[in-house]
Amino acid sequence: MERAPDATAAPGDHSIVTFQQHLLQQQREYYPGAKGSFSWLLSGLTLATKMIQARVRRAGLLDVLGAAGDVNVQGEVQQKLDVFANQALLHCLGVPEIVAVLVSEENENPVTLRRSEGAGGYVIVFDPLDGSSNIDVNVGVGTIFSILRRPAAGGAVAAADAALQPGASQVAAGYVMYGSSTILVYTAGKGVFGFTLDPAVGDYVLSHPDIRMPEAGNIYSVNEALAASFPDRYRRYLDRLRSGATGRRYASRYVGSMVSDVHRTLFKGGVFLYPPTDRDPGGKLRLLYEANPIAYIVEQAGGRATDGERRILDIQPEHIHQRTPLVLGGRAEMEEFDKAPGAVPEPSRR
Ligand code: AHG
Ligand code: MN
Ligand code: MN
Repeated sequence: MERAPDATAAPGDHSIVTFQQHLLQQQREYYPGAKGSFSWLLSGLTLATKMIQARVRRAGLLDVLGAAGDVNVQGEVQQKLDVFANQALLHCLGVPEIVAVLVSEENENPVTLRRSEGAGGYVIVFDPLDGSSNIDVNVGVGTIFSILRRPAAGGAVAAADAALQPGASQVAAGYVMYGSSTILVYTAGKGVFGFTLDPAVGDYVLSHPDIRMPEAGNIYSVNEALAASFPDRYRRYLDRLRSGATGRRYASRYVGSMVSDVHRTLFKGGVFLYPPTDRDPGGKLRLLYEANPIAYIVEQAGGRATDGERRILDIQPEHIHQRTPLVLGGRAEMEEFDKAPGAVPEPSRR
């Protein structure tokens, strides 16, 4: 059936905008001098995520093939998906000349691609596969990335230090969620945009322009099994949410893949927490490639993200794999958290 013409729609209202087109539009609007190298970098990144999603979509089948005892032509053992995801990103991001340093959850040390000061203006930090323990049970997983400018020091910058910048310095950040559809959620500081992968065309297409978080929601998301070892403040806060004392009734939802839990929080509102625990007194989640990019998106969508005391984006990192407690949510939930009495012990950083 043909869609009835909408007289109120401006010309082009129904046009399809791909991620690449969106980047070019944004560059023209905000950075007229840009030479397009940044969109080249992002095309490497999106190519890697398309390779990862193709592999994630076949995860169960690959297991079946593996179980048949076949050895592939290279004689390789089936790679774990997070190793595959890491290799895809390292490979695709190694091509654009403007990338200097890559920092991955899966690599102990940063990977330096271009050492001389003139070459490579960007540092990319990523969690290749977030929630990978959920792959076996067909639950949504994701890739998280953060893009920083390489610091302009007088001389070659030590690769190990290039990524040690507060999250507020991020040029852009995003995640791709491999869920019931594959969606790229992206910010470059001018709002948050969602692009759904159209599998028929192989392109990310703008599906969620200008994503805003609800100011108040009715879901809290935390690993409740660990609650006995949360600091008092977190336990009192959760008690208040459960008791209805905030004037709102809450439901509990926890997937255990940060990307999935955050994605739901972004769209439905509420709060997501990973507090300090006795097992991880400094929190479990990683500052550079989990908390920072997600905090940037959440703030750009109108929410807030803290480590219990400080704004996540203000934290000066000391190690690339540093951990942090994390609380993020909409305005109402974060105001409630601010009110919850009790000091949070200074988390041990690492
Ligand atoms: P990763 O798969 O990259 O190691 O990350 C797993 C993280 C994150 O996705 C999730 O929020 C958290 O681990 C869940 O931890 P718990 O199982 O301790 O709740
Ligand atoms: Mn992760
Ligand atoms: Mn991971």
